[in-house]
Amino acid sequence: EAELYTVYKGVYVPTHLHPAESLKFYEEFSFRPDDIIIVTYPKSGTTWMQELVPLIMSGVPWLEVHRAYILNLEERPSPRMFATHFHYNMMPTSFFKVKPKVLYVMRNPKDVFTSSFHYYGMASYLVKPGSQTEFLHKFLEGKVVFGSWFDHVKGWINAEDKDRIMFISYEEMIMDLKDSVTRMATFLEKPLEDAVIEKIADRCVFKNMKKNKMSNYSLVPSEFMDQKKSEFLRKGVFCFNDVHTVDCKFY
Ligand code: PPS
Repeated sequence: EAELYTVYKGVYVPTHLHPAESLKFYEEFSFRPDDIIIVTYPKSGTTWMQELVPLIMSGVPWLEVHRAYILNLEERPSPRMFATHFHYNMMPTSFFKVKPKVLYVMRNPKDVFTSSFHYYGMASYLVKPGSQTEFLHKFLEGKVVFGSWFDHVKGWINAEDKDRIMFISYEEMIMDLKDSVTRMATFLEKPLEDAVIEKIADRCVFKNMKKNKMSNYSLVPSEFMDQKKSEFLRKGVFCFNDVHTVDCKFY
């Protein structure tokens, strides 16, 4: 565990993805006011947003994948787009001064837990989950990467300057993707024609993203993610209250 994870500001982060030099770069990073930041607790819809937001901003298919190790972020033209799993109180100084826009996606913790359980079983950079019960304890205690789901959501919900943050849920996106895209476009001050919104939503429904090798993580080497064990775009459903899209016991 000590090797796979690093403790950063009180939470575990995967060492493989967050070596010391990346964290230093992050802390000193300068935001621009027109930056757009996707913030999520892991397994809450990050990949989905990474597909949607560039399409909303540019109207063209996205040809590159955001990775922490891509350098020259300073030289990228505006508006830049980033994604992060960090808690509110882990954001670098510049974030609080410059106040770029944030899209915060949350997903109900039950499904985040299930999705994480499968993911921890297939990603070699994470500590094996153990049994579902063992993993549930770790998850509830925040002894997983990016810490506690509860602290994450609480921190962002209680953020200052809430008018620059749009909160959206994975569940809303599942129930009405077109409406979600419309609202995101309005927030990003990018009003789009109905036909464009329709196209973006269609391209980003689960079954289409799952087929698209730029978004289904099939380009990631199998030593890193073994998609034979569990696919990255695994089920793409939610199981909550009275809206049962799947049998909640077995998925
Ligand atoms: S990560 O590792 O934190 O970046 O994972 P993240 O992308 O946040 O979450 C992965 C889950 O999101 C589901 N997903 C989608 N659901 C519905 N529609 C679309 N288009 C979509 N894209 C990704 C993905 O399947 C994971 O959820 P589970 O429940 O495991 O299927």
